Amino acid sequence: VHPGWPARLGPLVVPAGRVTLRPIRLRDAATWSRLRIRDEDHLRPWEPTGEGPWDARHHIGNWPGLCSSLRAEARKGRMLPMVIELDGRFCGQLTIGNVVRGALRSAWIGYWVSQADGGQGVATAALALGLDHGFGPVGLHRIEATVRPENMASRAVLRHVGFREEGLLERYLDVDGQFRDHLLVGLTVEELEATAADRLVRAGRATWG
Ligand code: ACO
Repeated sequence: VHPGWPARLGPLVVPAGRVTLRPIRLRDAATWSRLRIRDEDHLRPWEPTGEGPWDARHHIGNWPGLCSSLRAEARKGRMLPMVIELDGRFCGQLTIGNVVRGALRSAWIGYWVSQADGGQGVATAALALGLDHGFGPVGLHRIEATVRPENMASRAVLRHVGFREEGLLERYLDVDGQFRDHLLVGLTVEELEATAADRLVRAGRATWG
């Protein structure tokens, strides 16, 4: 067992509804597959290139293996694979990955939200909950993320919770079939004057549930 896993986080209330996070589970298969296939055009420009066609990669039958391997990583303390729920239903994922302890105490964070639930504060609230958990119970000192410069929605989300831009990683990651430049953003625990969730509430972007 490692600190901060498993956990249920939230709620934070945003215009879309009540946002909570919980560990991924085997019975997410059907929803995961349906949303990922429906949202291919929304997701594919921003996500790492995978093996084979999108529909095949997101077939319902792939979830048990994927879910089990992510949960195994979580049990080893290397990852926190969460589902974002909106009013109790699966609407996306938030993952904290490459958790490194020792003198670094660092990890990356990434997320997606279904297009149908977009533009109403869900990702911003989920990211704030994930950050506060990472800096709190998980015990991280630094959390970083990478984002394509063209991904204005995700850059807005990162900005709202206080991430700083640290530089441009040229041809960093194979996304949508080519190595793409990514902005590196970072945040260390001492930069957050209150919690990230508090900051959203004070900015009028969320309320406590
Ligand atoms: N230009 C500028 N700003 C934009 C644009 C745009 N084209 N589109 C949206 N925005 C803004 C919105 O106005 C909003 O800001 P506001 O609250 O100040 O108005 C912000 O972007 C979006 O905030 P949320 O509503 O909290 O985010 P949402 O729930 O819509 O999710 C997300 C955003 C996660 C980027 C979603 O669109 C998505 O899943 N996209 C595809 C996958 C993806 O890009 N994932 C992130 C990869 S990078 C990473 O994981 C670090």
